[in-house]
Amino acid sequence: MKNFFITTPIYYVNDIPHIGHAYTTIACDVIARYKRMSGYNVKFLTGTDEHGQKIQEKALSKNITPQELVDDIHLNFKRLWKILNISNDDFIRTTEQRHVKAVQAVFKKLLDQGDIYKGTYSGYYCVPCETYVPENSMGENKTCPQCGRPLKIMEEESYFFKGSKYIPDLIKFYEQNAKAILPEIRYNEIMSFLRGGVHDQSVSRTSLKWGIPVPGDEKHVIYVWFDALVNYMAALGYPDENSDDFKNFWPCVRHMVGKDIIRFHCVTWPLMLLALGINLPAEIIAHGWWTYEGEKMSKTKGNVIDPFKMVEEYGLDQFRYFLMREIPFGNDGNFSESALVGRINSDLANDLGNLLNRTLQMINNYCGAKVPECDNAESDLSTMSEKILTRVDEAMNKYAFDEALKIIWEFISRANKFIDETTPWKLAKENSDESKAKLNYVLLNLYEALRLSGLLIAPFMPRTSQRIYSQLGIEQDPVTMLYKNFKWGNSAGNVIKKSEVLFPRIDLDEWQKAQDAKKAPQNQTQEQEPEHEPEISIDDFRKIELRVGKIISAEEIKKSKKLYKLEIDLGYEKRTVCSGIKNFFKTDELIGKNIILVTNLKPAKLCGIESNGMILAASKKIDGNAEALTLVIPENLDGIPLGSRVS
Ligand code: MSP
Repeated sequence: MKNFFITTPIYYVNDIPHIGHAYTTIACDVIARYKRMSGYNVKFLTGTDEHGQKIQEKALSKNITPQELVDDIHLNFKRLWKILNISNDDFIRTTEQRHVKAVQAVFKKLLDQGDIYKGTYSGYYCVPCETYVPENSMGENKTCPQCGRPLKIMEEESYFFKGSKYIPDLIKFYEQNAKAILPEIRYNEIMSFLRGGVHDQSVSRTSLKWGIPVPGDEKHVIYVWFDALVNYMAALGYPDENSDDFKNFWPCVRHMVGKDIIRFHCVTWPLMLLALGINLPAEIIAHGWWTYEGEKMSKTKGNVIDPFKMVEEYGLDQFRYFLMREIPFGNDGNFSESALVGRINSDLANDLGNLLNRTLQMINNYCGAKVPECDNAESDLSTMSEKILTRVDEAMNKYAFDEALKIIWEFISRANKFIDETTPWKLAKENSDESKAKLNYVLLNLYEALRLSGLLIAPFMPRTSQRIYSQLGIEQDPVTMLYKNFKWGNSAGNVIKKSEVLFPRIDLDEWQKAQDAKKAPQNQTQEQEPEHEPEISIDDFRKIELRVGKIISAEEIKKSKKLYKLEIDLGYEKRTVCSGIKNFFKTDELIGKNIILVTNLKPAKLCGIESNGMILAASKKIDGNAEALTLVIPENLDGIPLGSRVS
């Protein structure tokens, strides 16, 4: 049996999963499922990237350890993969022992053979992207070309990887394997980058604690990318190169990545592999980026598409279908909900849904729910079916998911047209032997067209495929079937079930109203000029004493609907404060949070308790009542003790 190993990038756990993560993972899921149904022995790996500066900083700001943070956040990814019906065979975390062991083994081997050496690194560093940025790639005013944030000068003792030594070998490999990087535009980009020359890369940090220690020199931790890339081999049992998994799957490894991280995958990683004497990935497939209404998605703009919400609103298979169908894989594309609704109504409800309903109703009405016999099931549809399987296979082997779906939909449309051409309702009325035979022929062909369509869409929409097969009265789960076993025409005698609507049509007027209603409150807050206080001088402002504190206990005040009694640690003293935030937090969510406290507010008695201060929060108020509320929380307290003054 042929093997196939596909990997997603491992995702950073400093954030909640967004559409970019969902997109890569669904694409890998589709290809993994397709290859399984094509008879391959598949391994599909995903996971989380859990070390590095960003994680360390985020944990610090939350006053928890980095391990606690990653143990918690990686679960969001596992939850999303479950919701998206992802069929991964493994999930690797870079904090797992199997990974740490593999990374240290790689580092040690390269150190021992002289491909890693110690030196000093100095350069412009982008903390959020965890990368040193060469001067010729910096943005205006020394900013990061990736994220646009200001760069910091950093100097540190560092280990370097002598990747430059292997550049000629890598260029030669790519010259001989032009399909090792897909699509071609990315191949050309990497080739010109390589031909421009590549410096040795710094692969350790002393400025950071949260990482895998360099074996034998523990004040250094291994650079997060050097660490992360090894996950692909660690999951196969590396450093044991003789394990079955490694022997079976490494030679056919394929990495699916976004276009932003191809240098790490097409340059850094292959150089590491060349130095280790391990074969290079068979393919590195780079996809494009989703934008929202033409703009880059970003948290600050608040335009990041949340996959959890999309599935909840539009349905899982609808979302999966849209992502794979809407843009050619490799290109950037614009995410628009109206385009999604358009595809649901036309491709899914009209084309596929109607074909199923019309066919099942006719088999039910004219043949007593039993698929009829017919002597010869050859038709335009059966001829087309053979070509379709080959054409879909060609498209899938190029990772042209949109093309594969277009080909499947050509077939679905042809089947719908077949109904209009053969007019089975007229044949049913005619009541002659000839018309009866023709009717049987038509209905058997339509049933077979659905059986094939259900099979072809299985990698993209596994649940829908299962629902179609169940309505066709086929017990075996289509996702476990093999394409090569599909034979046209031998379904006579199958008993269909009652037809159910596969994809409810979305009423466009209702949908538009709901969209407008969703936008309305935001517009109001943006457009309404808030009420302003009179101007104050800086001296006026200084009269307000604001200090950093930490909530160390929170209790309900039984008599009050809104208030909690909080104990605040200011470092130099502890304060009791009554705070009207009961409707927005549970008590245990508050404990451990750093906050900003107004410390010189006149004490006030609330529900019999003396309150000595006020914590800062932002809220959205309607008729004077807070409807939403968020605490003002210092982002990170690195070196800032409790009690520090806020100015
Ligand atoms: N941790 C690294 C990968 C290490 S792999 C050894 C990383 N993680 S990430 O979480 O930031 O990004 C993961 C993937 O999400 C990347 O492939 C990236 O291209 C993809 N996307 C992030 N935003 C995206 C869009 N808006 N659209 C499509 N994919 C994008 O990088």
